[in-house]
Amino acid sequence: MKILILGGDGYLGWPTAMFFSKRNHQVIVVDNFIKKKIELEFGFKPLNSQPSLQDRVKIWNKNNNKSIKIRIGDLLNHRFIKDILKETKPDVIVHYAEQPSAPYSMSNRERAVFTQYNNVIGNLNLLFAIKKNCPNSHLIKLGTLGEYGTPNIDIEEGWLNITHKGRRDKVLFPKKPGSFYHLSKVHDSSNIEFTCRVWGLRCTDLNQGFVYGTSTPEMSMDFENLCTSFHYDEVFGTILNRFFTQAVTNHPLTVYGKGNQKRGFLNLIDTINCVNIAAMNPPKKSEFRVFNQFTDFKTLNQLAKDVQSASKKIGLKTKIKKIKNPRKEMEDHYYNPKNTSLISLGLKPIRFNEKIILDNLKLVQKFKKRINKNYFLPTVKWEK
Ligand SMILES: NC(=O)c1ccc[n+]([C@@H]2O[C@H](COP(=O)([O-])OP(=O)(O)OC[C@H]3O[C@@H](n4cnc5c(N)ncnc54)[C@H](O)[C@@H]3O)[C@@H](O)[C@H]2O)c1
Repeated sequence: MKILILGGDGYLGWPTAMFFSKRNHQVIVVDNFIKKKIELEFGFKPLNSQPSLQDRVKIWNKNNNKSIKIRIGDLLNHRFIKDILKETKPDVIVHYAEQPSAPYSMSNRERAVFTQYNNVIGNLNLLFAIKKNCPNSHLIKLGTLGEYGTPNIDIEEGWLNITHKGRRDKVLFPKKPGSFYHLSKVHDSSNIEFTCRVWGLRCTDLNQGFVYGTSTPEMSMDFENLCTSFHYDEVFGTILNRFFTQAVTNHPLTVYGKGNQKRGFLNLIDTINCVNIAAMNPPKKSEFRVFNQFTDFKTLNQLAKDVQSASKKIGLKTKIKKIKNPRKEMEDHYYNPKNTSLISLGLKPIRFNEKIILDNLKLVQKFKKRINKNYFLPTVKWEK
């Protein structure tokens, strides 16, 4: 298949590009490096250094006799994305190219506006370009589990069957997201559902939990040159990456608020497997299909305890510290998201376990000198 990876320089985009290229699909990666610009704006660096996208692609293509292609440009430029689709007519478009940070979107008005503009308008430009140039392409769009919030009912996969005053209907699951970033994803989902219904496009919306891990079989072939990024700062870092870097530097694992908040998550390899499963099992024309993409869920306290107990095995004396929650969110809540669709299509989940934690801690230990403890504590507050 011809597969376009939008956001192909990113944490998920780059390993996804290698995965599909290895399996002999024709891969084109698109990026405008906005993530790198945001890193510079905050002065944050990922834990590991990574060759440029151009160098990684050269090394990958040369060593594997492949031909990943790169197109540099912005989804906000509608001519750019229209021209790419016209020229390439992809079978599958994997859309990762959005501003992915909730704290960034909550840090001030400009960044909230940028997040929604970048994500919603970029996605809308893409939808118009698909309609005009390749209406049969399968759009695989990355949304988040955080779109749903923490409702007091089970979280179904995108849709909800309701009975209201004796009448029945199937509606998009009511979402109560927790940041301007998560809201941008909800707006995207509504726009995509509309274009499936009205224009007959076909889409899989993957409502994904947070992703951990920095290892895939393709990266392991030459980790130094082909690695993806590892962030532990408050903009791009995720909770597990923060816990791993804190444990290795003898800093207490900082848990926000009571720590009873539950989060769904999955391994990087499973993310790519889920995208692959979606690609190999396309939805019908006009179908807006939603999969909840996570393999485990735990409270923040459980995650902290798991990392603490594993870190003891390698001689670390890790403590856990509760700090004031910078976010406005429920700290005690019901949580029961469903995730049966991907499993019924063949996903064999990699379960989060002690060995995985130890592998991550050992990797982080190699880069210990580069860890900047100033990144650990949150500065962005939801309520100012
Ligand atoms: N990583 C996670 O834990 C996670 C969890 C749930 C959902 N997601 C979603 O998955 C997607 C990928 O996440 P990631 O962690 O790889 O993020 P990332 O920031 O590492 O990658 C996104 C890439 O898209 C590019 N980009 C952004 N806006 C663009 C635009 N207008 N035009 C062209 N390129 C643009 C960025 O430069 C970046 O390289 C995002 O949409 C994110 O919201 C990620």
